[in-house]
Amino acid sequence: MFNFDYYNPTRILFGTQRIADAGQHIPPEARVLITYGGGSAKKHGTLEEARLALGGREVYEFGGIEPNPHLDTLMRAVELVREKEITFLLAVGGGSVVDGTKFIAAAAHYQGDVWEMWSKRQPPQQVLPLGCIMTLPATGSEMNPTAVVTHTGLGAKVGYSHPALYPRFAILDPRKSYTLPPRQVANGVVDAFVHVIEQYLTYPVYAKVQDRFAEGLLLTLIEEGPKALTDHENYDVRATVTWSATLALNGLIGVGVPQDWATHRIGHQLTALYDLDHAQTLAVLLPSLLHVQRDTKRLKLLQYAARVWGVTEGDEQARITRAIDLTRDFFEEMGVKSRLSAYGLPETCIDEVLANLRRFNLLPQGEHQDIDEVKARRILSLSY
Ligand code: NZQ
Ligand code: ZN
Repeated sequence: MFNFDYYNPTRILFGTQRIADAGQHIPPEARVLITYGGGSAKKHGTLEEARLALGGREVYEFGGIEPNPHLDTLMRAVELVREKEITFLLAVGGGSVVDGTKFIAAAAHYQGDVWEMWSKRQPPQQVLPLGCIMTLPATGSEMNPTAVVTHTGLGAKVGYSHPALYPRFAILDPRKSYTLPPRQVANGVVDAFVHVIEQYLTYPVYAKVQDRFAEGLLLTLIEEGPKALTDHENYDVRATVTWSATLALNGLIGVGVPQDWATHRIGHQLTALYDLDHAQTLAVLLPSLLHVQRDTKRLKLLQYAARVWGVTEGDEQARITRAIDLTRDFFEEMGVKSRLSAYGLPETCIDEVLANLRRFNLLPQGEHQDIDEVKARRILSLSY
């Protein structure tokens, strides 16, 4: 196991009727900006619940943060924060709203070019505190210091991480996910699944605890994900999916182990260029990546095949192929298509994605830094 620091300061308020507790974790004198997305939080009453929880504090609202939040939109919120002298941000929505709010928190008092800070991963200066009410179990953004923002002008989708960006608290009421359309339920399960895979499916370093936690999360998502699609208002199922998604990317399973974020990094280019949902890009790329990397990931692929899919028969190559096929089948069972062609993308998308990877210096990737342009092309071609 590698050396590691583990630090996670986010307080989780989990369960029903927890939104009312938000006020206890925000300073009484705070001037609060509630941020939200395209309207789901308003329509389903969550915004109103958040306002009530804030009591007599001075509260402002900023709506319209789109999926894969755009820099331009977020900069408008930054102006509002400055104008109203906001001191606390409360995000109400999915990963895009939480990520966007982290950007606002870092940008509000930044002296200099904020996009340069973000894209060159320079440290922020003074960061506003934030909390969140998460309405979509998927990204883990509620309990991590990461955010991904899109610069539409540049065709760039860029992730950024800094310890100052952990939310102070995250409210997870599984019932809030009842109103999600099936596509977003499925996206969430696939995203969480791939987060686990990218921290688990590399090479063994005798990290038995992390491996067993990861396998537990994968098995849970395989069992509960399909139920969340058919049994809409099953609290136990939603609670399980919600907590799985948080644990998939709150840092716990990733400590002390090699990681491979190539599926995410290549996937972000597909979203930036073609507006595919984040999880759709992962469902398309992951099976092909596992296939191309089957030799360097051999030991872990065999472990994954046996422990997660119960595949123990046949020679090594057959078991690995079966595990990759079952992974793809799971994404399809969740209703997330796993081929680029199924989303109507032209075959030229492969060259476009490679051009973006070059332009933003995103290669090589992988736990051995061996996913170069040749391998990235193979992955994309196999994904088509
Ligand atoms: O905008 P509204 O109206 O709220 O609608 C949203 C949006 O259309 C809707 N929605 C959310 N909660 C709902 C709901 N609809 C009905 N009922 C509810 N309870 O769902 C749609 C998608 O929302 P979005 O926030 O975009 O989805 P998700 O949570 O999957 O977030 C995706 C973003 O997170 C980034 C992705 O790249 C993408 O930009 N990620 C962030 C990560 C992180 N911070 O650690 C890691 C991830 O790998 C990921 O990259
Ligand atoms: Zn993701």
